[in-house]
Amino acid sequence: MNEKGTELSGVTLEVIPSGAALGAEVRGVDLAKPADDALKDALNSVWAEHSVLLFRDQKLNDDQLLSAARLFGTPQPVGFRLLAKNPNQRDVKYPEIIAVSNRDQEGTEEMDNAGLGDVEVQWHSDNSYIEAPPKASVLYSLVIPETGGDTGFCDQYAAYETLPDDVKKKIDGVRAKHDASRNSGGLLRPGFKLPETEDDVPGPFHPIVRTHPVTKRKALYLGRRRDYPSQFIEGWSEKESVEMLNYLWDHATQDQFVWMHQWRAGDLVIWDNRCAMHRRDATDPKLPRILHRTQLSGEIPE
Ligand code: OGA
Ligand code: MN
Repeated sequence: MNEKGTELSGVTLEVIPSGAALGAEVRGVDLAKPADDALKDALNSVWAEHSVLLFRDQKLNDDQLLSAARLFGTPQPVGFRLLAKNPNQRDVKYPEIIAVSNRDQEGTEEMDNAGLGDVEVQWHSDNSYIEAPPKASVLYSLVIPETGGDTGFCDQYAAYETLPDDVKKKIDGVRAKHDASRNSGGLLRPGFKLPETEDDVPGPFHPIVRTHPVTKRKALYLGRRRDYPSQFIEGWSEKESVEMLNYLWDHATQDQFVWMHQWRAGDLVIWDNRCAMHRRDATDPKLPRILHRTQLSGEIPE
């Protein structure tokens, strides 16, 4: 790609890699405008290469957010809505959109289960607690505080590729449990109770190593860090399972795999849940932080 970027469908597409293990900013695209197939294909191949894309200075209403998301896939309701345990629709009119916000509809502070509140959110891959987790999440920022609430992304291709061979061998074909009882803030979802035994844990098993259906590359797929029994390796003893999961989590979340994003209002970020995890710093409860999110339907991990 030359300095000016690639001319496509009347737009000049520029791709600026983050410089970290993953992530790139895409310039020259107004996501509120329709895109033709050539532009759509170009964006999808840039996405496949970088796993996380940032588009700045976008002005999108919810309809336009869904259209932008459709460039990359099919929007679907968030996992907890699919499980129908949490009817909270907040201030958005489409079931495919959720408000990620530390304010309720009256604009007052809250620590809401659905909106993630102000809490620090630990490394995770979205909705891994359902059978076919969304392949991607698309987050669009409306109101962003001066400080706090940065979001980090972590390259799980690199995490897999840098594992020692003996560990790769041990986890080949192995599955782990993904607990559906709590959200990414670690809060118990309404209608669920804290599991006490392996059999108690609601949620699917997924392979620890999955192959990305587009890039064909292998990536670690850990979901969310949970204490035993909420996360365990199928058929392994508690001790072996805990040791391996501790090792994998420490390995997978090293700084060398991470890109941290500082938000501005008007940012749209799309990340690939099949090959990247993300986390969020805590936010200041005094300052509003409001984003709208949708997620794109995905396949059963294999
Ligand atoms: C999410 C999430 C991060 C953030 O929406 O899935 O983890 O920056 N949010 O609020
Ligand atoms: Mn998330």
